[in-house]
Order: sequence, then C-alpha cells, then structure tokens
Amino acid sequence: MALPARLAAAHAAAYYSGGPEGAGKGMARVRVTRRLHFCAAHRLGRDDWSREQNERVFGLCSNANWHGHNYELDVTVAGEIDPETGYVLDLKLLRDAVEQRVIDDLDHRNLNLDVEWMRGVNPTTENLVVAIWDRLAGALPATVELERIVLWETPRNYVEYSGGK
Ligand code: NI
Repeated sequence: MALPARLAAAHAAAYYSGGPEGAGKGMARVRVTRRLHFCAAHRLGRDDWSREQNERVFGLCSNANWHGHNYELDVTVAGEIDPETGYVLDLKLLRDAVEQRVIDDLDHRNLNLDVEWMRGVNPTTENLVVAIWDRLAGALPATVELERIVLWETPRNYVEYSGGK
C-alpha cells in the first residue's frame, strides 16, 4: 500500500535530511530518464558529392525520394532528490520541455526540409543528437542538469551524447 503523500514526503525529508537511516548521507544525486518517440523522414548525403558517391557512403539512407525512421529519444537529467516530494523533478516538466523544444519540430517532419534548426545539416543520427542537445541545454528546469541523450534510429542502432567534445 502506498504511503499517503504527506507521510511519504515526511519520510523522504527525514531520510535525506540526515534522519535516523540517512544520517551522514547528504543529498542523493540521481539520474532520471524520460523516453519520447517521434517519426521523421530524411535523406543522407552531400550536395557536393555525386549520386554514386552518396549511395556508396550512405546506402539506402541516401534514397533520392526519402525514407523514414521511428526514432526513440532518451533524455537523462541529474539532480538532487527534493526532500519534500522525493522526486528529482516532476517528469511531466521534463516531458513538456522535450516535446516543446524538440518533438513538436521533428515528429512527422522531413529533417532535410522542415526543421529550421537542422537546415544545411546532413541529418545523420550523430548530427541530430547534437542538435537536440543544443535545443535542450538551458531549456530545462534549473534544478536539474542535462546529463545524457540517447537517440535510437532503429531498434539496433543508437548514438549517445553527453555534451562537449
Ligand atoms: Ni535513414
């Protein structure tokens, strides 16, 4: 049976403020991940390469008439547990931020043509994950830090980025 919210909060406050079980532990820093989904079309290639060279390097992903992927996006933030709620953050806030800054621009769009912040960028998963990072860094609640983004292009291929070089 779940504890009533106020009792659960009191437990968390006792634990993380150094109550009987938590003495000396300080605030726990925890990573929290929200998974989101979007579908998008793209074509990989370089305009300054011949069609043959693009096909050799990018294969099916260079198809002239586009193709799509079902992407999964895992956004991980890190922060201290709020002793009052027991949460690092309300996951709805994280979901809303990612939807507004990223998903609404990408879902059911053509990454080459429709997305202002991907203009002129070859839309590989690698380039896309860095662009998504730049969209989210600084746009999240101030109590958490963006820690890691994992972008799945297929169930077997993903890239991950934690900022920086
Ligand atoms: Ni592709």
